[in-house]
Amino acid sequence: MTVTDERPTVEVAEHQRLVTLKIRRYDPEVGPEATWQEFQVPVEKGDRLLDALHHVKWYIDGSLSFRRSCAHGVCGSDAMRINGVNRLSCKVLVKDLGEVITIEPIKGLTVLKDLIVDMDPFFEAFKSIKPFLITNGNAPTRERLQSAEDRARFDDSTKCIMCAACTTSCPVFWNDEAYFGPQAIVMAHRFIFDSRDEGADERLEILNEKEGVWRCRTTFNCTDACPRGIQVTKAIQEVKRALIFRKV
Ligand code: SF4
Ligand code: FES
Repeated sequence: MTVTDERPTVEVAEHQRLVTLKIRRYDPEVGPEATWQEFQVPVEKGDRLLDALHHVKWYIDGSLSFRRSCAHGVCGSDAMRINGVNRLSCKVLVKDLGEVITIEPIKGLTVLKDLIVDMDPFFEAFKSIKPFLITNGNAPTRERLQSAEDRARFDDSTKCIMCAACTTSCPVFWNDEAYFGPQAIVMAHRFIFDSRDEGADERLEILNEKEGVWRCRTTFNCTDACPRGIQVTKAIQEVKRALIFRKV
């Protein structure tokens, strides 16, 4: 079957269908404004959006720029705004997205080119909450033991793959890049509630600041966006409660 468009003819095999990818393009070397560009892409039943984007890049327009690595929902590099919602392109099936699919970069971070944003503010927020085990005194001579119950206390927040889908779906972050954002708070939660860690007060003090946890307006966008199913808003609420009820 051959389907024609005003653009070049697209060959579509019997087991394929055509979808339109409407992609927000930006190249600072071409012009100061972003523009929308449409691509007709043949897809198969089990194709993910990442497969369709690869088709554009490999067979239609090699200048299309986007991040991806593992292609299996592990590395967190391909978060983008798909039909207005933050998703990982490697985890969403084209068949669930309709005939015309809009694809934009995640919001709130500076766009460098096409779907690639500057992740520096996101990683700075992550680093600022000290995402590592803090202990006092001498290094132990054996493994630090932890009960199954204590490990379960922060299990959900260990699942984060740092894709930024949560932080860049937050209206507070859209208006203020200095806000720590949901991901940094989830990562703080992972250590604050770890029974082996002794840096909880330090982290809580950091998150008590102007751009910290109190800026959260509990919109739940972050929880809805998380591809790992982390209860992001719940984690933020638990950190707020820890601040309210801490002993100092
Ligand atoms: S909490 Fe979820 S949405 Fe946020 S960075 Fe981690 S994996 Fe991505
Ligand atoms: S490419 Fe690694 S999570 Fe999608």
